[in-house]
Amino acid sequence: MSERKPILVTGGAGYIGSHVVHDLCDLGYEVVILDNFSLGRHENVDERARLIEGDLMSEHDLELAFKDQPEIVFHFAAYKAAGESMVQPQKYAYNNICGTLRLLNMMVDHKVNKFVFSSSAAVYGAPRYLPIDEEHPKNPENYYGYTKLAIEQNLAWYSQIKGLNFAALRYFNATGYDINGRIKGKEKNPANLSPIIMETASGIRQSMQVFGDDYDTEDGTCIRDYIHVNDLSSAHLAAMDYIRKNKENLVINLGTGKGHTVLQMIEAARRVTGREIPYQITDRREGDPPELVASSALAHQKLNWMASHSDLDSIFKTMKEVYLNPVKR
Ligand code: UFG
Repeated sequence: MSERKPILVTGGAGYIGSHVVHDLCDLGYEVVILDNFSLGRHENVDERARLIEGDLMSEHDLELAFKDQPEIVFHFAAYKAAGESMVQPQKYAYNNICGTLRLLNMMVDHKVNKFVFSSSAAVYGAPRYLPIDEEHPKNPENYYGYTKLAIEQNLAWYSQIKGLNFAALRYFNATGYDINGRIKGKEKNPANLSPIIMETASGIRQSMQVFGDDYDTEDGTCIRDYIHVNDLSSAHLAAMDYIRKNKENLVINLGTGKGHTVLQMIEAARRVTGREIPYQITDRREGDPPELVASSALAHQKLNWMASHSDLDSIFKTMKEVYLNPVKR
């Protein structure tokens, strides 16, 4: 493997990035992580990777990360709380947009031309039809989604002008933990449903809120397409191979094509953990569409990829290992 160039993973200590780093290291790649630990966790860093504790906004840290001339860059380092992005857009502008543009410029300077980008279903906004395919209009409803769309648009320009070869992966609702138990550090200050369910099951929270039960869905709560983080990781590896082989860009959804309501998620967690999960029904959360489900046909066609760990039992069994059976450190 020594003739292979390293792979640079920004945000490689974060929730999704740490899973991908473990899979890359398992395949024998030399991995360099750039993470500022604002959300990442040291305990999730694969010991086989070289860690640069640094920031996208630091010229010095970026130079260190590019010193060994990576072949490809996986970019996970971004903020992802849609609600917060509507209160503090400047934080999202700075990190998600400026930080990513700096990274892209560094790639151009160092003649690194392969990029795998963590995009989001948030680029679509309120669904006009379901399931959502890649051609669906892009009208983000929150600033976070806008930051992802803005970067996708820049990727297209950098590709046209500078020959950048990229994959933009639009995640639906990422969830679960490593099926091999390698990742044990919980997400810091989670805003998403499944970690909040598990914090409630484990007693970190006394109860949780369900945002509205008067939607036009089977039990009145919102439907989302939950995709296991190991399935996301395998799609990243396939996307890397795809852009290497085909030298064409790839913009795809990553979801299962199947939706679950909030109450179905809580019930599955209760069944798997055997714990009570007290909740109150509250008002709707602003900007929540009733249903978001992906068409994953293109990912299947282009990458021969399909989710295989995203059933609710696998999701909550793997989360139980982290939230209810934590390893002492
Ligand atoms: N929910 C609750 N209570 C909570 C948290 C969430 O009822 O405490 C509900 C939400 O109202 C929503 C569902 O659970 O109906 C999922 O909410 P999340 O906040 O976990 O996720 P979102 O669907 O809002 O957004 C996530 C990602 C986005 C991505 C989107 C795509 O955070 O980046 O999925 O489907 F774009």
